[in-house]
Amino acid sequence: MILRAKEISKSFGGVRAVHNVSIAVPENSIFALIGPNGAGKSTLLNLLSGIYQPDAGSLHLEETNLIGLPAHRRVRLGMARTFQKIRLFRQLTLLENVLAGFHIHQDAPFWEYLVYGDTGRFREEARSLLAFVGLEARSGERAGALPYGQQRMLEIARALATRPRLFMLDEPAAGLNAAEVDFLLKRLEQIGRQGVTVLVVEHNMDLVMNVAHRVFVMDHGEPLFEGTPREVQHDPAVIAAYLGGEFAS
Ligand SMILES: Nc1ncnc2c1ncn2[C@@H]1O[C@H](COP(=O)(O)OP(=O)(O)OP(=O)(O)O)[C@@H](O)[C@H]1O
Ligand SMILES: [Mg+2]
Repeated sequence: MILRAKEISKSFGGVRAVHNVSIAVPENSIFALIGPNGAGKSTLLNLLSGIYQPDAGSLHLEETNLIGLPAHRRVRLGMARTFQKIRLFRQLTLLENVLAGFHIHQDAPFWEYLVYGDTGRFREEARSLLAFVGLEARSGERAGALPYGQQRMLEIARALATRPRLFMLDEPAAGLNAAEVDFLLKRLEQIGRQGVTVLVVEHNMDLVMNVAHRVFVMDHGEPLFEGTPREVQHDPAVIAAYLGGEFAS
């Protein structure tokens, strides 16, 4: 297991967003986290990535205790993520956005690194990451000018530039058209084949059922079921709470 959370909880006022959730993500797997709106998926991802600290519970990346570590320290440990609401430097170019990902392992402030720094050795790698997400031809354009689906792919390239071992994505397929979802699916598989563990929150069941090795289902802040995609599709509680008739046959 690369990541283990034991009985972690997080409340906002009276809302128990995540309650007593234990999760173990096998190394080199593609692990999906699904559940209805408000189930606590993003909150769990925010706990794992250090955006929030849990009220209770333990959290380890292999042997490293993550409790108390801020998000940027976790990135340096090899944990990268994307956000449900896209976060990019909209005024910077695509290439600069990806270079910002490499910056996480540098000590100078990012602006100094862009203006004076030796970004040369990273530029080639940044270009190949842009090519990987299909954006090489637009590397000099401003990120804010990209269509939505391409902004999502750029966010993935930037996160990969931090050289993660564990890559967490919050609804990467949201707002993508069918062709873009297909491209995303192939890229997630390729990222997985390169030895990166993938933890993906997603509502797109085509993507989840095709790409995931294991699926963890949450409902009302609590774990509901965990299993293979096939097991999840046939579990009555999951069907009742979330899938409905989607996979009925
Ligand atoms: N920062 C916050 N402050 C207050 N309440 C929050 C906060 N973040 C999440 N919540 C609440 O916690 C619960 C879980 O929200 P969360 O965003 O984790 O769900 P989700 O499973 O990601 O849903 P969705 O599929 O719609 O993205 C919801 O009731 C939400 O309103
Ligand atoms: Mg969410």
